[in-house]
Amino acid sequence: MGDEAVLGAPSYRGPSDVNKSKRNFLIAATSAVGGVVGAAVAVPFLISMEPSARARAAGAPVEVDISRLEPGAMLTVEWRGKPVWVLNRTKPMLESLAKDTSFLADPESNASMQPDNCKNPDRSIKPEFLVVVGICTHLGCSPSPRFEPGDASGLGANWPGGFLCPCHGSRFDLAGRVFAGQPAPINLEIPPYYFLSDTRVLIGEEKKGA
Ligand code: FES
Repeated sequence: MGDEAVLGAPSYRGPSDVNKSKRNFLIAATSAVGGVVGAAVAVPFLISMEPSARARAAGAPVEVDISRLEPGAMLTVEWRGKPVWVLNRTKPMLESLAKDTSFLADPESNASMQPDNCKNPDRSIKPEFLVVVGICTHLGCSPSPRFEPGDASGLGANWPGGFLCPCHGSRFDLAGRVFAGQPAPINLEIPPYYFLSDTRVLIGEEKKGA
């Protein structure tokens, strides 16, 4: 693994956090992930990352502990200056991916960016864990998690749960697949990654020999 950066304090978002953000779009849009969450943990993050700053600048892989990531929760880590989300998808979340996909622009991810071993409906190595770059493929805003499906989401009865980009309204499902007719042209990017163990993921590198 060499000199990969090890993140000790990723930003966690549990299901209750997500429900709170759902009630207010503007708050959700500005507090969800990426820069704002990064700012909230800026001091401990910078201190903990100080020894690895050079490695991070060079784009070294990032090792993430997912042992505390409960079903339905998501954490955010930084890799190459970008937010990367790790979402522990529940069974209903996974089932939503298998329903009607006719509303998606690239359901098979043919035009989208992901490692070969993630070119599947879940866009993942292990179905329950989505690892995805949290940057909209339109103009680079960071979408907000809107996990609750249906009318309660405020996004219509057909909303399957997913992510909403606050900038120009692009919508993505829980595999980061973009809806058709949105400003974002392709699905969210899946970075290279692999599981070091059941509780640790290395983001930024594919398994050698895999
Ligand atoms: S940057 Fe996401 S919709 Fe424009």
